[in-house]
Amino acid sequence: MKATELLKKQHREVKGLFRQVKKASDARGRRAGMEEIASKLEAHMRIEEQIFYPAVQEIGTKKAEELVPEAYEEHHVAQLVLKELPQVDPKDERFEAKMTVLEELIEHHVEEEEKEMFKLAEKLGDDRLSELAEEMQGAMGAEGGRASGGSTMRAAAGGRR
Ligand SMILES: [Fe+2]
Ligand SMILES: [Fe+2]
Repeated sequence: MKATELLKKQHREVKGLFRQVKKASDARGRRAGMEEIASKLEAHMRIEEQIFYPAVQEIGTKKAEELVPEAYEEHHVAQLVLKELPQVDPKDERFEAKMTVLEELIEHHVEEEEKEMFKLAEKLGDDRLSELAEEMQGAMGAEGGRASGGSTMRAAAGGRR
């Protein structure tokens, strides 16, 4: 698998989680969903920042020098929202507002990554992209059980994927 494919798969996963949170019937489900989104996004942003973005930056074109710093800044803004969310009561209307802002932010960011940065990353070649995917998977695995929140969310939302 190529790094860009791995990252795209994670993008789809987070998108699905946002949909689930909107469907969640109670505050507990919304909070559980938010926590799962936070943990998935944090892991995703970490491997991009530590492994993928530096590799794209190495391409060294003007486009790379423009896209990579912008992506770091967008992660930064997403992290600010993620930090605030646990302090907001999921019954409060601000919770939904913040989740919507986060979702829009992520949607915009993902679109730029997939349409521009990942296209540029093709310059790295398939071998290098596969290597990067392995490196990222290794880094995710090293985080241990962080990805185990899924079942809680599904139970709380009372639904299936
Ligand atoms: Fe990103
Ligand atoms: Fe991404």
